[in-house]
Amino acid sequence: MAKKIIVANWKMNPKTSKEAVALFAGSLKVSSRLRNVETVICPPDVYLPSLSTKKNSIILGAQNVSEQSGIGPYTGEVSAEMLKNLGVRYVIIGHSSRRENGETDDSINRKIKSCLKAGLKIVLCVGEKERGDNGEFIKVVETQLTRALEGTKDEKDARNIIIAYEPVWAISRGGKFASDDPDAVFGMSIFIKKTSTSIFGEKAGGRVPIIYGGSATAKNTKDFLEKGGVRGLLVGGKSLDLKEFGEILKIADKVK
Ligand code: PGA
Repeated sequence: MAKKIIVANWKMNPKTSKEAVALFAGSLKVSSRLRNVETVICPPDVYLPSLSTKKNSIILGAQNVSEQSGIGPYTGEVSAEMLKNLGVRYVIIGHSSRRENGETDDSINRKIKSCLKAGLKIVLCVGEKERGDNGEFIKVVETQLTRALEGTKDEKDARNIIIAYEPVWAISRGGKFASDDPDAVFGMSIFIKKTSTSIFGEKAGGRVPIIYGGSATAKNTKDFLEKGGVRGLLVGGKSLDLKEFGEILKIADKVK
């Protein structure tokens, strides 16, 4: 059975390196006891050096990357190669908060290519801003996917891509909203799979993992994983709460 994938997106948290180390150590304590979960933690880049140890059960990820490869005169940018050299293996690309800040499908596409070239895996975020009644949101996700993945079509590329379906309206609701809806996620996961097989071919595209993000909590983890048709979760707010994140990991470990 394929392992579940739980990706923690710490966003711009915590305030100090000391807190980051403690949060990481706490998550590691739980994840190291689990067999069926791949735990990925994406802290702010500044904390990466203090968290990157060679051998442990947590995979390090980054929350963004430059479009530019290698090194060069690009103020404020961090390249895929630099992240790789720090022990990072995954990069979140196309998160809605970056799209809100002007990131385009073209830029996302360049970032993906730069990561693939450097040998990094990608967590590509897609998701509609709102769900109207006319099914328009499906088209939104299809366009995001096809434009982001343009020019990446072989099996090797497919092996390095995870697609995170994150409906923007469901993000950061603190688990208190009424729309925990694994069935809606299931429909979208089927559609994403269909799109990914049309890009990468039946076999390789069918194996691209799809995860869900948007107010994932310990309470809704089981439902999303069992009924949502997804292999894992992208966890924001609750990845900063050790007790809750530990629960999410343990629940994911048990889901068949
Ligand atoms: P959330 O964040 O779990 O706090 O909704 C998810 C995300 O933005 O990736």
